[in-house]
Amino acid sequence: MKFFIDTANLNEIKEAYELGVLDGVTTNPSLMAKEGITGEQNILKHYVDICNIVDGDVSAEVIAVDFEGMIREGEILAALHKNIVVKIPMTLEGIKAIKYFSSKKIRTNCTLIFSAGQALLAAKAGASYVSPFIGRLDDISTNGLDLIAQIRQIYNNYTYDTEILAASVRHPMHIINCAEIGADVMTGPLSAMKALAKHPLTDLGLQQFLADYAKGNV
Ligand code: E4P
Repeated sequence: MKFFIDTANLNEIKEAYELGVLDGVTTNPSLMAKEGITGEQNILKHYVDICNIVDGDVSAEVIAVDFEGMIREGEILAALHKNIVVKIPMTLEGIKAIKYFSSKKIRTNCTLIFSAGQALLAAKAGASYVSPFIGRLDDISTNGLDLIAQIRQIYNNYTYDTEILAASVRHPMHIINCAEIGADVMTGPLSAMKALAKHPLTDLGLQQFLADYAKGNV
């Protein structure tokens, strides 16, 4: 399973990349705003800065909600760097835009997926990735992982190239469960990735090894 980091924070992206396990980055307008990145030119520059840190796919989201606007913005985004994947919202206009980009060999990530039907439609339109938001489903008492499993089953029945990018991942168990189900990618915070490394018995064992080494080397 590929690991993407879900942030626009350059320091966190660097830290994750230096760990050696980072395969890409997802951003959204809220994450950009959180970092204080505003204005079209600054946002475009920020995407290039991200692409210069990570050797992997970087999702850059359109703001337009109409077909023509999505095409205009998506073409500008795609021209920024070969690793940019144009992130398009799951709407009927978005589906048309995904189909258009697919015919131009421009890769897309269909975002804000909350149902299997939406994921099926995006795959038929030729999306490179679909992003089901598991944390936001959990937030409304609906099991987000069930949706990942349902989409996995549907995609396995056919030959779509679309990859399942489990998004809105909040904690290490989400990551482990996504891997069990067979999501192609997960995107989440750095804290959830780092938490995978933690185990109290690892800490205790290491402490003991170092203490025993020290006893024999006084
Ligand atoms: C996906 O690409 C989104 O940026 C993201 O995963 C949303 O996560 P959130 O629900 O934690 O905001």
